Amino acid sequence: MSSSATTTEPLAGATSSAGSTQLPTGAAKVKAVRQMFDAISARYELVNGIVSLGMDRGWRHRCIDALELPVGSLVLDVACGTGDLSRELDRRLLRPVGVDLSCGMLAHARTPGPLVLADALFSPFRTAAFDGAVSGFALRNVTDLGTRFVELARITRPGGRISLLDLAEPEAHLLRLGHRLWTNYAVPVIGSALSDAAAYRYLPRSFAYLPPASRVVELLEQAGFGAVQHELLSGGISQLYIATRKQEGGTP
Ligand SMILES: C[S@@+](CC[C@H](N)C(=O)[O-])C[C@H]1O[C@@H](n2cnc3c(N)ncnc32)[C@H](O)[C@@H]1O
Repeated sequence: MSSSATTTEPLAGATSSAGSTQLPTGAAKVKAVRQMFDAISARYELVNGIVSLGMDRGWRHRCIDALELPVGSLVLDVACGTGDLSRELDRRLLRPVGVDLSCGMLAHARTPGPLVLADALFSPFRTAAFDGAVSGFALRNVTDLGTRFVELARITRPGGRISLLDLAEPEAHLLRLGHRLWTNYAVPVIGSALSDAAAYRYLPRSFAYLPPASRVVELLEQAGFGAVQHELLSGGISQLYIATRKQEGGTP
């Protein structure tokens, strides 16, 4: 298994027909993300498994292990897509609820939990409704990470846990080179053969949306999370942010 593999993640490019080199922002980004995931939803999981060389399974397991929540806990799967993390939550006897803004992804979702069509930045859930939350490969897709974390803190009960998984670019030179070759050349070829070519050309460019880990940790702390941990997986091609919702007094 090559360590230069990545997961699918066409990213936040404009529409499928776009040849633009600009990465969209704000409302244009929301529209582009929704259109793109609608377009690739039917084969999303197939392509994901191939371009990550199956490594996404292990990353997802680690993401849910890190929650350390008791059986029966209610967990929001933010930007759930086709429900991969929700199914794993269910296997661990946790109770998943999925939210996503792409109709196409939700239409192809296979999960026993309820699904909600909404923008995760403005989710229709009551305050402190959930014991925890997870998110897979979606940090780069939202328009405003700070606002997203504040919303995540609102819907997570004090003492609740979050575990956020996304891709990363490895630091080590050789691994970084292999990773770039894979994401710049192999992933678009595979994506174009099996799904939507333009969508998968945006993968390498999508990394530009992700702030440095220190900034993400800072934003989580400002939003109301404590004991924030950043963990690199598979040599740094994937990463996890784990945190606890602070109690009212500010202690994690
Ligand atoms: C790469 S997919 C990840 C799907 C799934 N979490 C997984 O682990 O395979 C990213 C998902 O984020 C969703 N998404 C992006 N921005 C969103 C937002 N603001 N609110 C809700 N869902 C969003 C997309 O529709 C897409 O389904």
